[in-house]
Amino acid sequence: MDLENSYYELYGTNDIIKYRWKQLLSIMEHAKNTRSSALKQADKQGNSWYQSEKMVGMMLYVDKFSENLVEFEKRIDYLAELGITYVHFMPLLKSREGNNDGGYAVSDYLKVDDKFGTMEQLERVMKLLKEKGIRTCIDFVLNHTAKEHIWVKKFKEGEPDYNDMYFMFDNDTIPKEYEKNMTEIFPEVAPGNFTYYPDINKYVMTRFYEFQWDLNYHNPQVFNKIVEVMLTLANKGVDIFRLDAIPYMWKELGTNCMNLPNVHKLIGMMYHIVQQICPSVIFLGEAIVEPYEIVKYFGNNQWKECNVMYNASFMVLLWNSMATRNVQLMERSLSIDYGIPADGTWINYVRCHDDIGWGFEKEILKDLGMDPEMHKQYMIQYMEGKFPGSFSIGELYEFNPETKDARNSGTLASLCGLEQAINEKHIYKIELAVKRILLLHAMIISYTGIPLLYSGDEIGQLNNWGYKTIPEYASDSRWLHRGAMDWKDAEKRKDLSTVQGQIFTRIQNMISIRKSNVFFSSKYKAIPVHTGNPAIFCFHKEDKMLVLANFSETEQWVDASAFDWFGLPGEMQDLITGRCIRSYNNQIQLGPYEYLWLV
Ligand code: GLC
Repeated sequence: MDLENSYYELYGTNDIIKYRWKQLLSIMEHAKNTRSSALKQADKQGNSWYQSEKMVGMMLYVDKFSENLVEFEKRIDYLAELGITYVHFMPLLKSREGNNDGGYAVSDYLKVDDKFGTMEQLERVMKLLKEKGIRTCIDFVLNHTAKEHIWVKKFKEGEPDYNDMYFMFDNDTIPKEYEKNMTEIFPEVAPGNFTYYPDINKYVMTRFYEFQWDLNYHNPQVFNKIVEVMLTLANKGVDIFRLDAIPYMWKELGTNCMNLPNVHKLIGMMYHIVQQICPSVIFLGEAIVEPYEIVKYFGNNQWKECNVMYNASFMVLLWNSMATRNVQLMERSLSIDYGIPADGTWINYVRCHDDIGWGFEKEILKDLGMDPEMHKQYMIQYMEGKFPGSFSIGELYEFNPETKDARNSGTLASLCGLEQAINEKHIYKIELAVKRILLLHAMIISYTGIPLLYSGDEIGQLNNWGYKTIPEYASDSRWLHRGAMDWKDAEKRKDLSTVQGQIFTRIQNMISIRKSNVFFSSKYKAIPVHTGNPAIFCFHKEDKMLVLANFSETEQWVDASAFDWFGLPGEMQDLITGRCIRSYNNQIQLGPYEYLWLV
């Protein structure tokens, strides 16, 4: 890839652009010269580390996990004990006061938010983590800034260099044109994509919340500034940039302003720059869109973009299998080859800080005899806990009273039935909920890609209902699953008579097995196997390992001839328990929610 050509192709070649190009070169030059020798040493190894079986992530909010960065240092051993090898810090750069969408409204990219500490403390934490073999991922919110960002201030002060960094219009003619094709991201809490500001007498594009102003990448100054910030942060020791909300980065009138070809240009150019200046750094892209659009963000051999992408489909399919006790949709959807490049790697997760949106392959649903809309309603109500017999307790997110459309919120444990079981003091239901929690973790730890745990799930934390009393959180149900880490509960993690102990120890065990077997590396692709039993999910890792998982609370029999090429009962051993797998009439039995990692 030729960066210079790409830049001119995107922006044109007039004198201003030539000036901006030179500016970009000097930003890169400066970053190269100021990169520490320790980081340059690491750069020599390149960035293929992310494909290793050793990779296991945890995402956390610093304030919810440890209050601040100083206290965080005392918790590093906890992460190491579980086996974590990369930490994803949820937004910790300085964000606006009051509602800031969980830190996704950054007001200063080069400062750590006061409530967490300072940039020096972050650098220290990153070094300490590295000493324990743990890499650092930070959220990089590059589609928008807070309306209080310094770039907005400079524009308001009349600095010409800061003109056109956002989408601003004198009247609503063009905004109305845009609105014709744009979708709404928070239709209930933040409807519309533009906001009028009387102080500047302008309509500004605000795709997410009103206080999040969309950056205008049609202006090369925005690209340069963002690259400058990114390289500065990379030089502080960041290993992974989580590129937030990338599908929205490029806007074009008359389109839905999502996944446009120029977004891929922007990311590809950024990746190329990172490769030149800090080649050990990787990109994790956040694009919660259709699978065939997600895979485009991996780029290709000539044009690389993100190394790692969130496997949103797998997450949704896992919950679907749980709620329906039927894996057919998952088996069929995961069998589709979307053309992922060999080094493109998934982040596999069950829960994160966001809601769960029910994006399924509609054609497969229809083929399986289901009505896509009715099925979506089933999932929405099931996960809220309203569907008769549901084990989940959660809440709706962005509920539309007219269409009844919604997404869902809730912690992994509560959605898996633990909250209901504890409320009912029902011992067997508690046991089933723990089994569900472990089964879902067994899936993300064994499937191809990097498992990403959501802080608190490793001890089965329940919903945080207290969010409703905090005014800036109350209208956003995502805070239901963003509770503070319960360190008292975490103390029980070694006690197998507790729920916390059972969950933590088994996850820890699975992580350690994963890290010592090379076929858990992302190089080995997971291939679904059809067993004929709709409750059983089965996949193999290029013949090295076979996973069997029962997504129902009743015992199930699987016909071993579905995978006789892999091994026969009696020959196969479960990696987790070490036990030899036997059969009865060539049928293998799996208990409620049982999973086997067979070799
Ligand atoms: C991403 C984040 C989400 C946030 C949005 C706006 O989708 O995951 O939490 O609200 O970006 O920055």
